[in-house]
Amino acid sequence: MTSTATRRAAREPGRRAALLVLVLAAIAGLAAGCGRDDPPDLVNGKRLFTGEGKCGSCHILARAGTGGTIGPNLDQAFLASRRAGFGEQTIEEVVRNQIDETLNNSLMPEDLVVGQDARDVAAYVAQAAGSPGEDPGGTVPGDPLAEPGQEGKRIFNAAGCASCHALSDAGASAAVGPSLDDAARGTAGGLPTREWLRQSIVEPNAILAAGYPRNLMPDYGRRLNPRQVQALVDYLMRAGNR
Ligand code: HEC
Ligand code: HEC
Repeated sequence: MTSTATRRAAREPGRRAALLVLVLAAIAGLAAGCGRDDPPDLVNGKRLFTGEGKCGSCHILARAGTGGTIGPNLDQAFLASRRAGFGEQTIEEVVRNQIDETLNNSLMPEDLVVGQDARDVAAYVAQAAGSPGEDPGGTVPGDPLAEPGQEGKRIFNAAGCASCHALSDAGASAAVGPSLDDAARGTAGGLPTREWLRQSIVEPNAILAAGYPRNLMPDYGRRLNPRQVQALVDYLMRAGNR
């Protein structure tokens, strides 16, 4: 019954927020009293969320450092639910429902993750969405992309920079925009390099690289928060030094 309601109302995006609250209320009733066995693996959930072609390529989730804009911003989507007093377990069920039962014509692929993996991703989103602060799922021993200091590299890939720019350190070789392999030595308009990099990301049209048109590079000023932009600049200062 929940999924039918979801399907019908999701055709009208304006109603989605109100619907979400109803679905949450319904699930909260069902979930009360359900026991749970092993706790979900949040680290696995985060790894899958940020994986190539996975959730983060279409959804913003600040704590995962992802900047996809094809689907709704998940921080915004669940902030209201949190404020309305719904707990993590309830949000987890909503996310799980969305993963398992996407609309027929949705851009969101069906069964992107299944089974235990789907449970881990849903639990991770429930913990991270609309909830500021440090991310306990963020330090995966042995996973270079999740080590401290590697956040910028993760954002570089998750935000789509690699689809337009070459950067050897990130394994990127696209040529839509200039190569960033020497970005740490670049500047323009008399700006210090860090400030030039920051401006190139949040205000790409302010100073155009020679030979490139306006408006080709997306404006990331509203897609990434200042902390994410800072992480990118730090990363380019380190990796763009060839
Ligand atoms: C190719 C893009 C794409 C990918 C990949 C994707 N989504 Fe989505 N997602 C969407 C779109 C578009 C919607 C809007 C509703 C719809 O079309 O079903 C959506 C809706 C959602 C919603 C509902 C939000 C709301 O406001 O109601 C959740 C939760 C969600 N996605 C989570 C995920 C998770 C978790 C993953 C990874 C397993 C994922 N998405 C992967 C595009 C994507
Ligand atoms: C759709 C393609 C596209 C995407 C995605 C993209 N860029 Fe760009 N970028 C360009 C183009 C084209 C230019 C040259 C025009 C200009 O300066 O805005 C450029 C310029 C730059 C410059 C200045 C380089 C120079 O030599 O002047 C930096 C730095 C940069 N981009 C970083 C990034 C980062 C970081 C991301 C991801 C957050 C990103 N770009 C995403 C296309 C893109």
